[in-house]
Amino acid sequence: MEAFRRRVGGFAFGGDYNPEQWDRTVWKEDVRLMRQAGVNTVSLGVFAWASLEPEPGRYDFGWLDEVMDLLHDNGISVNLATPTAAPPVWLTHLHPEVFPIREDGQPFGFGNRLHYDPSSPVYREYAARITTKLAERYSFHPALAMWHISNEYGPTSYGEAASVNFRHWLRRKYGSLDALNEAWTTRFWGQVYTDWEQVDVPHIPRTWMNPTRRLDFKRFTSDALLECYIAERDIVRSFRDDIPVMTNFMRFFRHADYWKWAREEDAAALDIYPNPAEAHSHVSAAFNYDLFRSLKGGQPWMLMEQAASAVSQWKLNIVKEPGRMRLGSLQAVSRAADSVMYFQWRAARGGQERFHSAMLPHSGPESRTFKEVTDLGREMKLLAPVAGTRSSADIAILFDWDGWWGLEEVFGLPRNDWSYTETVMRHYTPLWERHHAVDVVSASSSLDGYKVLVVPNAYLIDDAGAARIEAFARDGGTVIMSFFSGVVDADNRVRPDGYPGAFRRLIGAKIDEYWPARPDESFTVAFADGRRATSTWWRDDLHLESGTALATYADGLLAGRAAVVENRFGAGRVVYFATLLEQEAFDETVARVVAESGVRSRFEGVPAHVECSVRGDASHEYVFLLNHSAESGVSVPVGGEGTDLLTGRPVSGEVSLDPLGAAVVQLARG
Ligand code: GAL
Repeated sequence: MEAFRRRVGGFAFGGDYNPEQWDRTVWKEDVRLMRQAGVNTVSLGVFAWASLEPEPGRYDFGWLDEVMDLLHDNGISVNLATPTAAPPVWLTHLHPEVFPIREDGQPFGFGNRLHYDPSSPVYREYAARITTKLAERYSFHPALAMWHISNEYGPTSYGEAASVNFRHWLRRKYGSLDALNEAWTTRFWGQVYTDWEQVDVPHIPRTWMNPTRRLDFKRFTSDALLECYIAERDIVRSFRDDIPVMTNFMRFFRHADYWKWAREEDAAALDIYPNPAEAHSHVSAAFNYDLFRSLKGGQPWMLMEQAASAVSQWKLNIVKEPGRMRLGSLQAVSRAADSVMYFQWRAARGGQERFHSAMLPHSGPESRTFKEVTDLGREMKLLAPVAGTRSSADIAILFDWDGWWGLEEVFGLPRNDWSYTETVMRHYTPLWERHHAVDVVSASSSLDGYKVLVVPNAYLIDDAGAARIEAFARDGGTVIMSFFSGVVDADNRVRPDGYPGAFRRLIGAKIDEYWPARPDESFTVAFADGRRATSTWWRDDLHLESGTALATYADGLLAGRAAVVENRFGAGRVVYFATLLEQEAFDETVARVVAESGVRSRFEGVPAHVECSVRGDASHEYVFLLNHSAESGVSVPVGGEGTDLLTGRPVSGEVSLDPLGAAVVQLARG
């Protein structure tokens, strides 16, 4: 990635470019306006299979040759896509078995994109063939700077090919049917398998399902998609191995385990469309940015797609009001993105996304959006020294796909209306509002170097993950954990000897029963320090062992019993929430526990709507200050003398930000 950064002179700036949708007379104008906007990189050919191979085995690369040359002549680098996210209609007619089969048994059909079954050998064969052709032709083209493998891997198929592949996957995992029967607890309801051929994908919708079969199917589907990615990646790498290869991931995407995927990528790349109609969409964006930075151990990541203004996929598509696109882009950069890229360069005239915004909108270069894009393109150049720099955090938050699937993919839990992402955001938000730097970890990440670990509802966690969390606390870490954690093992089987099996010693309490609350029930919680709050949704019927009560219920059948537990564990401390506290009391408690661990934010006291984060290298720190308020300006102390890279002006002690204003202050270290 270092070579790529050098090539583009810092940040990549650009977007998806679809010249195949336009007459070649437009291409020259495109490139002229790209230069005007400061574009240095485009993602090319994302859905262009039908234009590259109009008939089976007949290729038309002429137009792509021309575009690659034109871009290169104008100093624009190409992130060249394999077009395999959109199989041509001829392929689906020749081989209808490439279609994914939906959960209801119907084929997905032609007319959208992503209409392929990742397990289909035919799909894989044709995908390999077009990928090989592209790599043969363009691997040494001077415009080529990066490979963009397919697009937003995502389809799940319940068809025959999936069943065959699932069985292979299970045989590799379990080795014997006995081991599978044991892991899946198939004695329950007499589901015992006696021959591998009997094992099938879970066809019926997800109520009333063997929960381990469903869980393994999620793991399998993520792996089947990953096999497709790896196959194409290895083809392009076999031609030359000095060009970075990646695919674009999505925000909060449940169907692919990005921790596992990221190991196979040269950079983690994210497509994200925060909804301007939602007041807090920038906070969940911040979490996703932290996740993407963490996926590859703190390496800068790529913002691969965002909207220049409105999208077109929702019922109501609100524009990004003036200044918001810039602020959102700088937000990604502040959390270690090394690119600002958009879907798409030029707005399409027809097709599903004809009202999706673009860097160059239907109204042309004399438009608000094009002007804002051009202004940002200029600013990205000013920020060049920031590219490649990293950030550090004392706090980590657990976000794990196995845990997500455990909570949301199968019914049969004490309550079945979990939202893992909401619960994670509930835990992340108080840290974000107090300007704490936060890394994201998986159950298998190293926890070295962190002081606080936040564990939101980790229902399913494997033994090694649970042991790592215990060791973290024993060695002096602070763990903040919430209810229904550590309940089942990696096979979705309840851990023995009382809830919460994996964490009973850690939290210093045994839970007799889980008591989900009735819809309108609420409880009064009294803290040892006199604070009172309400809670809803859930209570643990919990008996303290080594733990003590930080708060107890003041009413209801559990009156006098612990609602928030504190346990000294080894050299560390654990605070466990056994109920869903109202947000304010939860936030305050989390903030106190973090403060008591000794972790402080250098931006303490700065209003919550001013997002503060820091990137840096050996010689400099870059302090990003982003004012999310459209109403009021604000002054923020930066603790030193430096320069605002966006204005070039010296900064002494304090920076003033306009409404929606931003500053990136360069401070010399030492
Ligand atoms: C992404 C996709 C793009 C475009 C965009 C619209 O999911 O990769 O091709 O459809 O969404 O927001």
